[in-house]
Amino acid sequence: MSSKLIAPSVLAADFANLQRDVEMINKSDADWFHIDIMDGVFVPNISFGMPVLRDIAKHASKTIDVHLMIVDPDRYIKTFADLGSNILTVHYEACTHLHRTLQAIKAEGMKAGVAINPHTNVNLLEDVINDIDLVCIMSVNPGFGGQSFIENTYKKVETLKEIINRNGADTLIEIDGGVTNKNAKKLVDAGADVLVAGSFVFKSENPTHTIKELKEIIKT
Ligand code: DX5
Ligand code: ZN
Repeated sequence: MSSKLIAPSVLAADFANLQRDVEMINKSDADWFHIDIMDGVFVPNISFGMPVLRDIAKHASKTIDVHLMIVDPDRYIKTFADLGSNILTVHYEACTHLHRTLQAIKAEGMKAGVAINPHTNVNLLEDVINDIDLVCIMSVNPGFGGQSFIENTYKKVETLKEIINRNGADTLIEIDGGVTNKNAKKLVDAGADVLVAGSFVFKSENPTHTIKELKEIIKT
């Protein structure tokens, strides 16, 4: 995988101007839409749900990367496929039968992702690495945008990259939380493929330029 990707997190968008912000991402150098779904149980916050995703998907012209921060995600796999999700990421910590969940996501025609919390060791994924299209390494505790980046993430990226290579897998590594122009280069150098950026993009003066700046930084 040579080209590195930027996925703006819609969680940080202006929900009263959602179509404007979706169009901004469409026209920008961004690669994916990152959509955070929170249930107030798996994480201590509630974001937005199906009707909002359906309306985003109506206007989005790029890959829709859905990050489920919910308990028992198996209940909603088909729903999220029908809503237009291209990638569906579930949390390792929320899945008792992760292998089965991954197969169910793929059976609905989506790419299957697994997100891991900051305390979860990447080595726990080795036995399913060939079944995972994307690993989302949380670089903050999930639940809120705008938190600061956890430095231990670089080490996790390097270890995961080794696991992927050792198993001949083509899994993408995504980093989610606290991504800025200060850590982007170091993350891709460590082996990351996709950087999610919420606050850094949407709280900046010119989000389109900020996305362009991040793309320039991570160009290989
Ligand atoms: C956190 C979410 C992230 C969040 C990132 O629980 O999964 O995707 O939107 O936001 P920033 O870039 O502001 O940390
Ligand atoms: Zn996310």
